[in-house]
Amino acid sequence: LSQDVTSIRVDSPTPYDVLVGTDLLHRLPGLLGDQSRRVGVVHAPSVTASAERVISVLSGQGLDVVPIPVPDGEAAKDATVAASCWQMLGRAGFTRSDALVTVGGGATSDLGGFVAATWLRGVRVVHVPTTLLGMVDAAVGGKTGINTDEGKNLVGAFHEPAGVLCDLATLVSLPRAELASGMAEVVKCGFIADPAILGLVEASPERALTPDSPELRELVERAIRVKAEVVSADFRETAGSAGHPGREALNYGHTLGHAIERAENYGVRHGEAISVGMVYVAELARVTGRLDTPTAARHRFVLDSVGLPTTYYFGVAWNQLLANMRVDKKSRGNVLRFVVLDGLARPAVLEGPDESLLEQAFNALAPSDR
Ligand SMILES: NC(=O)c1ccc[n+]([C@@H]2O[C@H](COP(=O)([O-])OP(=O)(O)OC[C@H]3O[C@@H](n4cnc5c(N)ncnc54)[C@H](O)[C@@H]3O)[C@@H](O)[C@H]2O)c1
Ligand SMILES: [Zn+2]
Repeated sequence: LSQDVTSIRVDSPTPYDVLVGTDLLHRLPGLLGDQSRRVGVVHAPSVTASAERVISVLSGQGLDVVPIPVPDGEAAKDATVAASCWQMLGRAGFTRSDALVTVGGGATSDLGGFVAATWLRGVRVVHVPTTLLGMVDAAVGGKTGINTDEGKNLVGAFHEPAGVLCDLATLVSLPRAELASGMAEVVKCGFIADPAILGLVEASPERALTPDSPELRELVERAIRVKAEVVSADFRETAGSAGHPGREALNYGHTLGHAIERAENYGVRHGEAISVGMVYVAELARVTGRLDTPTAARHRFVLDSVGLPTTYYFGVAWNQLLANMRVDKKSRGNVLRFVVLDGLARPAVLEGPDESLLEQAFNALAPSDR
């Protein structure tokens, strides 16, 4: 039985593969390696069916499988949840050579990755992302973490997975709004590095949002390649050369996006916030004379075509957003930093732009501006 699987390598100090395809959960043992006796399967209630398939594949290999149910979505990224995971690992006698598998969206892989990073100072973890955002972003690159009452992702660790398995079949149950949210990160990759992504979405936004379409598969693969390349270059320390902002390029649209998420008390999806954030930085790059008008306009067009917001009318004052941007953990001191484009696939960093230009770009987000 020949299987159509795409493999994308991430060149971290311990290189690993991201597999993309449909119905490939049986490839999991290969990614996990054969040193483990016990495997904990961290999963949320929304993906019980996928988790059960993972559990049966692993049990079929003679592994001692410990199901580790965690709360749905963001509620999993909590110190008390991490503590209950540690307790289960301790009671089941997990050693350095045992492993974890996460099955779920970015929240599940962030929590599960953090538990894997911290248990005995680090055990192997394989991510099985079940959201588009998880596949193209959260599961790749090794950032893990949880939230505290004071803010999101304030506690965490770098811990590269041993492998990532993107089974597109798991996306079939994902609500369309979640799919669109992940598409914001895919479109981001199109603007910062791979414009073919934009062409694919523009050719058929509907096919792009169809889980079993060849178009979505190609989008997922292209977006993962962008992230894998940026992350790999970062490890080779070639990032930042020739004016390329390196890994920071992935932050495109995120400076204002994060400020909006905070202002909205995380009541908006991440992809929705960064969609607005990308329209904003495109406008900022335009008013600072860096980006041409058609490319700036293309942001609205592409994002709008997949149902993402391109205007901001949530009622939050500009001053509040400006204050939020200044305390973003990616800003240095109080100087605002934005990833901007000098053209398609030409990311650069804009530091401390003039406040009047910042506000001018913001005003262009008003719904009436269109
Ligand atoms: N580590 C990183 O580099 C990185 C990068 C980006 C985002 N993140 C983190 O990822 C999280 C967001 O990830 P997300 O958008 O995947 O959200 P999520 O994990 O909260 O999942 C969104 C919702 O979809 C449900 N769900 C997941 N898979 C499903 C499926 N196949 N069918 C039906 N429902 C399903 C979840 O239970 C949840 O309710 C945030 O916590 C963010 O901080 C991390
Ligand atoms: Zn993001």
